Amino acid sequence: MGADPLTRVVLASETDWDGWRRATRALVLGGAPPEAILWSVGADDSEGDPMPVPSEGSFGVSRALVALAETAILARDPERFALLYGLVWRAHRGERHVFQQATDPELRRAQGLARSVRRDMHRMRALLRFRVVERADGTWHVGWFEPDHHILEANAGFLARRFPTLRWSILTPGASAHWDGKRLRLGPGVDPDDVPDDDTLEACWRNLPDPAALSEVTRPASGWTEDILEQPLREPDKLPLGPVRLRSRQSGPAARNTPLARAAHDAESCRRCDLWGPATQTVFGEGPADARVMFVGEQPGDQEDVAGRPFVGPAGQLLDRALEEAGIDRRTVYVTNAVKHFKFVPRGKRRIHQKPEGPEIAACKFWLDIELREVQPDLVVLLGATAARAALGRTVTIGRERGRRIELPDGQAAFVTVHPSFLLRVPDEEGRAREYRAFVDDLRKVARLAAEIAG
Ligand code: URA
Repeated sequence: MGADPLTRVVLASETDWDGWRRATRALVLGGAPPEAILWSVGADDSEGDPMPVPSEGSFGVSRALVALAETAILARDPERFALLYGLVWRAHRGERHVFQQATDPELRRAQGLARSVRRDMHRMRALLRFRVVERADGTWHVGWFEPDHHILEANAGFLARRFPTLRWSILTPGASAHWDGKRLRLGPGVDPDDVPDDDTLEACWRNLPDPAALSEVTRPASGWTEDILEQPLREPDKLPLGPVRLRSRQSGPAARNTPLARAAHDAESCRRCDLWGPATQTVFGEGPADARVMFVGEQPGDQEDVAGRPFVGPAGQLLDRALEEAGIDRRTVYVTNAVKHFKFVPRGKRRIHQKPEGPEIAACKFWLDIELREVQPDLVVLLGATAARAALGRTVTIGRERGRRIELPDGQAAFVTVHPSFLLRVPDEEGRAREYRAFVDDLRKVARLAAEIAG
């Protein structure tokens, strides 16, 4: 008996997240095991089964797995498509706890790729230097970088948001990205040999200036970048949904032109405190704008900062599990944070979480107030001390306020419980299980209270 034929999937580009996701959905639903699929990028003339037409139906995988795949798919590793497919395949086949097994070799490999991509993105942001080029259409800032991974498009989105008023180009060997103040476009790469490295030009390289400091622009240079800017450019149609998104997700508040949508958009360029600087992006709340229950956490963590979505990392997975046990469908609630940027200190390769301080919480209350006002939930669930402090306007001892209905200063019904990351830090297993049960009990109370309030 012959072996099952291989299915060939040809993705449109190295960062074809949509293509990978569509193929993965169709193949998983069609029952194609990982070893029966050959993944490649670009034209493929070889024989083999055509890409399957997506089947009817869909299935869910955890947010954490999606966030991990969105990042790891940018790694320069030809096996990443198959690796990530294998994880989705296993999750779909019932290995629900793939993500709780820190020693799982495939999971570790994917996490290693995602870490390496994140490092590369941060390296690019830290090391990118620009020189000023005067062109007929005005001043351009042009930077050269050799990334390890396929991060140009994702990082270009970040830079477009961070420096919306500058015109800039980033050239890399594989591709180039160009922002003209309105549109982000992609073009061909540049041969490293064509990039000048003599001292004169080197002197023109500089950090991308703060938009406010534009008058201090250094002396102009010209030449090699012109050719690139003259070439036909294309829209970045293959942008992955993360780690950095140019457009908001359909389900997010920014999908519609409402006050909440506008707030989510405006918060992307928030400068009310300094936390925006080192962070990857603003992480605004998400969920239905008419949710009856709103959950407020502290601030995005390392994974949320990269994914651009609240509670997708380890604390988010725990929250998801507890919500499910308490009979609350996360898709029906609005989830946000008191502070919308990740606060951290770099330590070696890691980014260590720092608790936000009073002024940061107060500055970000502006956005939380808008979310509260626009969503108008029946009940606000405050996860931990920072959320409680933000909403109540005072320092709160969780043990004293936990597990009962309280009121916010404006009379809004609220409920305080622990933050899920507290559960992750309980050192012994027995204590952890006990605290988890107490957390689920609190969430059951939340469900009952919300039902009572709704009448
Ligand atoms: N912790 C939080 O408080 N919020 C998140 O989004 C993730 C972790």
